[in-house]
Amino acid sequence: MNKENIIEITHVNKVFSDPDPFVKDPGLNALRNVSFTVRNNEFVSLVGPSGCGKSTLLKLIAGLDKEYEGTVSLCGVDVKESRVPVSYMLQKDCLLPWRTIMSNILLPVEVRKGDIKKVRQKMESLISEFGLSGFENYRPNQLSGGMRQRAALLRTYLMEGEIMLLDEPFGSLDEITRMQMQDWLIRVWEKHKKTVLFVTHDIDEAVYLSDRVLVMSTRPGTIIGDIPVTFGRPRVREMLLGTEFNGYKKRLLEMLSKTED
Ligand SMILES: Nc1ncnc2c1ncn2[C@@H]1O[C@H](COP(=O)(O)OP(=O)(O)O)[C@@H](O)[C@H]1O
Ligand SMILES: [Mg+2]
Repeated sequence: MNKENIIEITHVNKVFSDPDPFVKDPGLNALRNVSFTVRNNEFVSLVGPSGCGKSTLLKLIAGLDKEYEGTVSLCGVDVKESRVPVSYMLQKDCLLPWRTIMSNILLPVEVRKGDIKKVRQKMESLISEFGLSGFENYRPNQLSGGMRQRAALLRTYLMEGEIMLLDEPFGSLDEITRMQMQDWLIRVWEKHKKTVLFVTHDIDEAVYLSDRVLVMSTRPGTIIGDIPVTFGRPRVREMLLGTEFNGYKKRLLEMLSKTED
C-alpha cells in the first residue's frame, strides 16, 4: 500500500440478496467495481443520485457489512480481517433523548471504557468550539437542529480513529442553518485536520468543503469522476460566486446528468 492512502477501496462489488434460500432472487446490485483512494488528512466528498449506494459504501468502509467482493483497506489493514476504528455519523443525529448533551457526547468514550476524566479536561474548549457552551446539561429536544448536528459531530469527533465518515450530516437542515454549519465545519476541519469522507447530494456543498469530489453513477454505483478542487484555504463564501466555482459546478452537473437513465 502507498503509505499516504489512508482509505483504499479496490474493485468493490456489493449485491443485496434475499436471505431466504427458497426465494428465487437475482439480488440487487448496489455497487459495481468501485475503486478509489483517500489520502491522509484529505477532505473528500462523494456525490451521487439518491439510491446509488453511497450509504452502502460508507457502511462497508465502517466495517459494519462484510458481505462484498473486493477490498476495503484502512491504514493498510483489510477491514474484513480486523476492526479498524473509524468515526461514523449517520444523517439522523441519533442522540439519545433521555441523556444530556454532555453525556451523549461522551458516549463513545464510555462505550470503549476510555478515560472520561482525561477527555473531560479538553471538553471545555471543544464544547465552545462546537458552539455548545451553556447547553451541556440540556436534552436533545431542547436544542435547535443545527445544535443537535453539532453535538452529534462532536460525539463523532470523539470516537476513536483518524477517519471520519459523514453521511449527509446536513441533509435535514434548512438552507441557512446548513450554510452556517458548512462554514463552521470547514473552520473546525482546517484547524484539526482529520481524514474526512463526506457524503452529500449537494454539489455546492461538495465543492465548497472538499479537496476532491468523487462522483457516483446511478445504481449500481460506481465512481465516474474524481475532481480535485484547487481553491485555496481557508475557504470563504465569496468563492461560491466566482467563475471558477461555476466551472466545477458545470462539470459535476454534466457528469451527474449523464448518470440518469
Ligand atoms: N439492507 C438492504 N437490503 C436490501 N437492499 C438495500 C439495503 N440497503 C440498501 N439497499 C438498496 O441499495 C441501494 C443503495 O442504497 P443506499 O446505499 O442507501 O443509497 P444512497 O445512500 O446513495 O441513497 C438502494 O436501491 C437500496 O434500496
Ligand atoms: Mg444514503
